[in-house]
Amino acid sequence: MLAIMGAMDEEIELLLADLQDRETLERPGVTLYRGVLDGVPVLLTKSGIGKVNAAVAATFLLVAGASRVIFTGVAGGIHPELRVGDIVVSTDLVQHDVDVTALGYELGTIPGEAPAWAADERLRAVALNAAGEVAGVRALEGRVASGDQFIASREGVQRLWTQFGAACAEMEGAAVAQVCAKAGVPFVVIRSVSDTADHDANVDYRTFMPLVARHAKQVVRGMLARL
Ligand code: ADE
Repeated sequence: MLAIMGAMDEEIELLLADLQDRETLERPGVTLYRGVLDGVPVLLTKSGIGKVNAAVAATFLLVAGASRVIFTGVAGGIHPELRVGDIVVSTDLVQHDVDVTALGYELGTIPGEAPAWAADERLRAVALNAAGEVAGVRALEGRVASGDQFIASREGVQRLWTQFGAACAEMEGAAVAQVCAKAGVPFVVIRSVSDTADHDANVDYRTFMPLVARHAKQVVRGMLARL
């Protein structure tokens, strides 16, 4: 079954409102919803913010039968061409706050794990197609960098751009990617840009987050018709 996740209410409430034949599955710390969205059977959940919450929610989704996972939400733009409202479709994901360099590992690499997790080619293509049909929204494919940090400085942006080649920064995607990769379950992350992760990021985020979350939601809706 297809699973759709978001970190916050704003990121999933627009989908939850239209979920038909809704069933609630309570799990420790996570509520999963099962139902039908635009004729497609789906699991839907809000993970909460950060990598641990995202990994927990993704695990419960897989145990409940998820065979494909879409994560939708907002992000801080890192790629210099990104503007508020644009969409990023993940090519691959990294955990930018992992640092085991003292033991000789590359920055971002967890010992025993891949340095990055690749999103599913087909889900990427479908997401990009769907994004192309959302009026007035530009879409870019790129690397998503996740960490338990809200990036809000020029230095932070520079670090993610030069060290990781990241297109955008958020706080959950790569945790979901790690869990899905372990289970061999295809996934993609779709993020709309709410801020450009600089010194105005906190203000821009609060202003634009509810608005641009709609863009990512529209992409997910468009994907449902194509899956
Ligand atoms: N989500 C939205 N904007 C973000 C930022 N600047 N850093 C991390 N996560 C974000």
